[in-house]
Amino acid sequence: MQVTSDLQVQNTALEQQAIDVVIMAAGKGTRMKSRRPKVLHPLAGRPLLRHVLDTAQALGARRAVVITGHGAIEVEAACSMNTRATAPFSISFVRQEPQLGTGHAVQQAVPVLADDGVVLVLSGDVPLTQPSTLQQLLAASAGQQLALLTLQMENPSGYGRIVRSTDGSVQAIVEHKDAASAQLAITEIYSGIMAVSAKQLKRWLARLDNQNAQGEYYLTDIVKFAVAEGVPVVAHKIDDPVQVAGVNSPVQLAQLERAYQLQQAQRLMEEGVRLADPARIDVRGVLQCAQDVSIDVNCVFEGQVSLGEGVSIGANCVIASAVIEAGAVIHPFTHIDGEELGVTVGAGSLIGPFARLRPGARLGAEVHIGNFVEVKNSTLAKGAKANHLAYLGDATVGERVNFGAGSITANYDGANKHRTIIEADVHVGSNCVLVAPITLGAGGTVGGGSTLTKDTPVGALSVARGTQVSIANWSRPQKSPKA
Ligand code: UD1
Ligand code: MG
Repeated sequence: MQVTSDLQVQNTALEQQAIDVVIMAAGKGTRMKSRRPKVLHPLAGRPLLRHVLDTAQALGARRAVVITGHGAIEVEAACSMNTRATAPFSISFVRQEPQLGTGHAVQQAVPVLADDGVVLVLSGDVPLTQPSTLQQLLAASAGQQLALLTLQMENPSGYGRIVRSTDGSVQAIVEHKDAASAQLAITEIYSGIMAVSAKQLKRWLARLDNQNAQGEYYLTDIVKFAVAEGVPVVAHKIDDPVQVAGVNSPVQLAQLERAYQLQQAQRLMEEGVRLADPARIDVRGVLQCAQDVSIDVNCVFEGQVSLGEGVSIGANCVIASAVIEAGAVIHPFTHIDGEELGVTVGAGSLIGPFARLRPGARLGAEVHIGNFVEVKNSTLAKGAKANHLAYLGDATVGERVNFGAGSITANYDGANKHRTIIEADVHVGSNCVLVAPITLGAGGTVGGGSTLTKDTPVGALSVARGTQVSIANWSRPQKSPKA
C-alpha cells in the first residue's frame, strides 16, 4: 500500500513539475570552418538550434534558456524571429563569455531558473533527439533523481565515460582526457543530456571547480556530488546514436541530414507513398500526402506541401509551400515555390516539364502549364492552357483560354504592376505581348505576333502587327566577284 501511494505521489509530482530546458549553444564550432555560428547551420531547412527548441516545445516545456556566446547576436536574432513558440512556452537567452566549460555554461542560467522546475540540459548542436526519449529521461528522474541519457559505443573516444560501481550504480562521469586507462575501456558514454531538479542543480553547480585536465568547469562533475549526498543517479540507456549525435563538422552535418531524410522517407512509405528511391528525396518542412501518391527521384519539398490523392511528381522537381490537388501530374524539372502567398495546382492539372510556378499562382482543375512557362500571382480557371514558352504575371485567365507559345503579359511599366484579364474561351496566338492593364473579351482571338495595348471586344479577332508585304520575283543580293 505504502509503495503504491509513494509512486502516486511521485507521478503527481512529475506531472505537476514544470520542465525548464537549458540549451548550451555558446561553443565556437571551429571544425565547421564557417563564419556562421554552428547552431544556425540548417538541417532539413531549419537551424540546428531550431530543432532543439521545437523538441523542447513538443515536450511541453515551460521555457527554454539558450546559452549563447560565439555569434550570440546572430543566434539570438535568428531564434527570436520566426519563432513557432506560443505561450506558455518562452525562449530567453543568457550570454556566456568567456566559455569556461559546460558547467560554467549552465551556471549562467541559474539566475533565470525557477527553483520549482526540473531542468533538462540539451545542446544546440544535437538536433535529432526524440521528444519521447526525453519524456522517458524525465520520468526516470521523477524530478528527484539525477537522470543521465547514456549510450553504449564501440568507439567511445572523446566522450565522458559512465563509471559504475560493482553493484552497477552510477558513481561518476569521467571525461576522456581525465580518464585512467581502465576507465578508457568503458564503452557506456554520457550523451550530454541530463534531467535534474533545479534546486539540486543549483546547489551542485555552485560547487564546481576547474581542477581537471582541460581546466574547464565540467557539468558532469555534479554526478559525484549527487552520489556523495546519496541522491540516486539513474542512467537511461538508449541504443540509437542518431538521437544524441552532435554536429561538429560539415561531414557530421551531412550524415545527420541523411539520417533525418531517411526517417522522413520511411515515414512516407509507411503511409503508402511510393518513392522511386528513399535515398533521393529531401523534405525540408512538412509533406502531407493522400493515397496513391508517387514521387520520382531527386525531389525536394520545402515548407508546407500537400499532395492530393493520386498525384504524381516527376524526377528533379523542387516544390515549396504548395497545395497540389488530386490527380495532378507534375512532370520532371518543375519548380514550384509559393513562398508566403502559396501556390495551388488544381485537380487533374498537367504541369511541366520545366515549368515554373511562383507565389500566388492559383490554377484550377485540368489546367495545362507546359515547358518554360512561368506563372506568378495569376489565377487560371478550369481547363486553361499555356503550353510553351510563356509568361503569365498578375493575370486573371478564364476557363478554356489557350495562351499561345511565346506570349507574355507585360505586367510591369517600370514603376507599377498592372493586371491582365483574359476572359473565358479567348485564344491568344503565338508571340503576343499583352500590355497591362488590359482586358480581352470572352471568346476573342488574338492574331499571332500582336502587341495589344487596348481592351478587345467579346468575340472579336484582334491583330496588332505590321502588315505583310510580298514583292514578287525578288532576287537576293549576289556575292560581288573578287577584285
Ligand atoms: C560533453 C560532456 C561529455 C559528453 C559529451 C557528449 C562535459 C564536461 N562533457 O563533452 O561527458 O560525453 O559532451 O557530446 O560536459 N558549450 C558551451 N559553453 C562551454 C562549453 C561548451 O555552451 O563553455 C556547449 C557547446 O557549444 C556544445 C555543448 O556545450 O553545444 C557541449 O560541449 P562540447 O565541448 O561539445 O562537449 P564536451 O566538453 O566535449
Ligand atoms: Mg568541450
